Amino acid sequence: MLGQERMLFDLPFLLCISIAILLFPVVISQIPLGSTISVMKNDDWVSSNGDFAIGFFYHSDQYVVGIRFNSKTIPIDKQTVVWVAGADISVGNKSYFQLTQNGELVLFDSMKGVIAWRSETSNSSVASAVLLDNGNLVLLNRKNDIVWQSFDNPSDTLLPGQNFTASRMLRAASRNSMSSYYSLEMAVSGQLQLRWESNVVYWTSQSPFQSNLRAIFNSEGILQILDQRSKSVWSVFGDDHNDSNVNFRFLRLDVDGNLRLYSWLEASRSWRSVWEAVGNQCNIFATCGLCGICVFNSSGSPVCRCPFTPTGESKLQCLVPYRQECKSGSSMITYEHTFLYGIYPPNETTSHHSLQQCKSLCQEDPLCTAVTFRTDGTAQCQMMATQYISGHSDPSLSSISFVKRCSDPIAVLPISPRPPSSSANDTTQNQSNDFCVPCLVGVASGTFVAFLVIQFGIGFCIYKRRHYIRKKAALAYTGPTSNCLIILSYPEIKDLTGNFKHQVGPKMFKGMLPDNRPVAVKELKTSIEERKFRSIVSKIGSIYHKSLVKLEGYCCESGHRFLIYEFANSGSLGNCIEDPKMCKRLTWGKRMEMCITVARAISYLHTECREFVSHGNLKCENVVLDENLEAKVSEFGLGLVCGEASYTGGAAEMDVGDFGKMVLVLVSGCREANDVCQLAYEKWAGGQAETFVDERIRGVNLDELERLLRIAFWCLQADNRMRPSMGEVIKVLEGTLTVDPPPPPFVSRSPPEEESDTEM
Ligand SMILES: *[C@@H]1O[C@H](CO)[C@@H](O)[C@H](O)[C@H]1NC(C)=O
Ligand SMILES: *[C@@H]1O[C@H](CO)[C@@H](O)[C@H](O)[C@H]1NC(C)=O
Ligand SMILES: *[C@@H]1O[C@H](CO)[C@@H](O)[C@H](O)[C@H]1NC(C)=O
Repeated sequence: MLGQERMLFDLPFLLCISIAILLFPVVISQIPLGSTISVMKNDDWVSSNGDFAIGFFYHSDQYVVGIRFNSKTIPIDKQTVVWVAGADISVGNKSYFQLTQNGELVLFDSMKGVIAWRSETSNSSVASAVLLDNGNLVLLNRKNDIVWQSFDNPSDTLLPGQNFTASRMLRAASRNSMSSYYSLEMAVSGQLQLRWESNVVYWTSQSPFQSNLRAIFNSEGILQILDQRSKSVWSVFGDDHNDSNVNFRFLRLDVDGNLRLYSWLEASRSWRSVWEAVGNQCNIFATCGLCGICVFNSSGSPVCRCPFTPTGESKLQCLVPYRQECKSGSSMITYEHTFLYGIYPPNETTSHHSLQQCKSLCQEDPLCTAVTFRTDGTAQCQMMATQYISGHSDPSLSSISFVKRCSDPIAVLPISPRPPSSSANDTTQNQSNDFCVPCLVGVASGTFVAFLVIQFGIGFCIYKRRHYIRKKAALAYTGPTSNCLIILSYPEIKDLTGNFKHQVGPKMFKGMLPDNRPVAVKELKTSIEERKFRSIVSKIGSIYHKSLVKLEGYCCESGHRFLIYEFANSGSLGNCIEDPKMCKRLTWGKRMEMCITVARAISYLHTECREFVSHGNLKCENVVLDENLEAKVSEFGLGLVCGEASYTGGAAEMDVGDFGKMVLVLVSGCREANDVCQLAYEKWAGGQAETFVDERIRGVNLDELERLLRIAFWCLQADNRMRPSMGEVIKVLEGTLTVDPPPPPFVSRSPPEEESDTEM
C-alpha cells in the first residue's frame, strides 16, 4: 500500500525495508518520500495496528482527504473521519495526496489544477511520514523527531492523547460545507470556550483561571485540563469512563455547535454520545440560524420554528418583519415563555423596568425591533435594534418577548437599518419576486460595440515603434518602461477613430491602426498636467498581466489626453450581461471563473507591481471579454490620472469593495439596481440566496454561490478594516480558504443616527 511502485522497482530500497522490518516491526507503517494516494486508485495509508487509515472520502460530489477509523470491528459506514487536510477543502476526482521529495504533504486538486493544501514543511528536512497507532499522522526528520503532526492541526475532532492548547482550534464542520459557525478554543486564561463566529461565547468550562494549560482527552474517556506539571485542574467524563471494554473514543465539535464525547459500543456496533457540553440544544447560540427560534417538539427534540411568519406568506418572511422605515405605525406581538436575542449586530441594551414599561419603551423607540423581559424577578428588559434575531421558547422559561410588527400592508423582507428618512422604500417593497425584471427589460444602452483582443509579441512591438514613433520624437517619453508604447498626435487620433465615429463607451472610441488592428481610444480630461500624465502612462504601460487590458499607446498634446488600449472582441462584461445572446454564454462556471480572473488581476495590481497600483473604478463596464469570453480588466490605475479616486490609504479597500459589488452584479445580472448589495444580503440571510441569482443562468453550484456571496459581503463591509485582501478573496473563490458568514455589510455597529457623525 505504501508507495508500491517504488518498492517494486527499487531493489536496494526493498532490501532496506526488509531489514528494517526485521529489526523494527513498526517501520512498516512508514510512508517514504514520494508516496502518493489518489482518488482514482482509492488507496490508503494505514497505521500499523490497522485502527486508522488516511485516504480520500467522497463528500457532496467532491473528495476530501483525511484520517478515519479503520478498525475491522467498525463497519465502513461508521468509520468516522477524525481529521481532514485543510479542514473544509474538497477536491476533484483526479486529485492526489502526496508526501513530496521535499518532505511536504500536498493535496493536489485536479479540478482547479492547484495545490489546495500543503503542510508547509519543505524546509524542515522531513525524511518520512508515519500514521501512528493513535491516529496521529506525523512527519519525521532523520533523527526521528516530529516536525509536523496532524494532532497539532485538528479539524473538528480530538482523539485520545491529543493535546489542545491556547493556539489550537476545533471548527465544527459546517452545514453547507462552506465554513462553520462554531468553534472550540482554549482562552489564554485557561478555559475551554465554545464560540459562535469569533465573538460570542456560549459555553465555558468552569475551570480555574490559569495560564499555560492544555486540555487533553485521554483513552479512559476523560476530558481534562492539565497544568504545567500535568496535574488535572478540571475534568469531565461520560458514564463509561474507565470502562476498559471501550476501545475507541473521540471528542468532536459537532455541526450543531455542541461538543460531545463519543464511545464505540461493540455490542450495538454504534457510536454513543456519553457527554455533551450544552445539555439544552436550544441554548446554543444561533442554533436556528439568522431566523427562527428553537423549541422542543412533542417528542422532546429541538426544532426551529419561524415565529414571525405572517400567515399565508412565504418562508422569506422568517426574520423580524419590522422595518425602521415603517410608515403606518406598528403593533407588538407577544410571545410568552420566549427569550430572544440579536445576532447581527448583537447590540442590546439592558435596563430594569416593569413589563408594561419595557414593552412601551420598545414600541416608542423607532430603532427597537423586539424586546425580551425577564419574569424571573430581575425585571431585566433587553431591547434589540437589529433585524436578525434568534431565540428559544419553552414553557419553563421565565421571560416574555414582544416583537414589533409594521402595520404597512405588505410585510416585506427585512432590510438593514437605515435612517427613517431614507428613500429606499419603493425599491425594497417589491423585491421578493420581481426584483430583477426592471434590469432585464430596461437599459438599452446597447450602443457599445465590441473590443478586440490582439495577442502580440515583442517583435511586433518593434515593428510598431518603427511605424509610429516618427516625427513626435520630441514628445516621446524616453523612460525605460514605455518602450513599447506608441505615441500619437491628435490628428492621428482623429484619423484612426474616423473623427470619433464609433463610440463604444463613455469617452471611449473604437479606432483602427494603419495595420488594421482595432484599438479602443479613451479620452481623458485635458486638465491633467502633462508630466503627471506621462509618468502615470509609463507606469500603466509597464504593467503586463494576461488579465489586464494592455495599454498600447497614448496621446499627450496641449488640450488633448488620450489612452490607446488593445481592443476586446466581445465588449464589456456590463453589456454582455444585458445582451440576451451573450448572457446565455455566461454560464455559472464562466461567471465564477471571471470573478477569479478579475480578483487575480486586481491582486496583481495591488501586490505584484513595482509600486502599489489601485484600479480606482472597478465595475462590470471596466471588465472586457475576448472572443473566448476570457475576462480582462480595463482602465486600471486611472484614478491616479484623473484624480477621481482619492489616492489615500483606503485605495486597496476601495477596490475590494468595488469587487464585491461587481460580483453581486455579475451573479444577479442586475446592472442597474442601486441596492443590489443590500438585496443580495437580505436574500442570503433569509436562506434564499439562489433566488438572487440571474434567472438566465443554469447549473448554479450552490456551494460556490455561498462562497461567492459570503466573500462579496465581506468585501462590502462598511468598516474598511473588515474587508479582506484580494489575495484572501482569491483563495476563498478557489475554495482553498474558508470564510465565515459575514455580518450585514452596510451598517456600522452603532445605531444609524450616530453613524453619520461618528464612525463614517
Ligand atoms: C470526474 O469529475 C468530472 C467533473 O466533475 C466528471 O465529468 C467525471 O464524470 C468524473 N469522473 C468520474 C470517473 O467520476
Ligand atoms: C502533549 O503535551 C505534553 C506536555 O507538553 C507532551 O509531553 C506530549 O508529548 C504532548 N503530546 C503530543 C501527542 O503531542
Ligand atoms: C479509574 O480506575 C482506576 C483503577 O481502576 C482508579 O484508580 C481511578 O480512580 C478510576 N477513575 C475514575 C475517574 O473513577
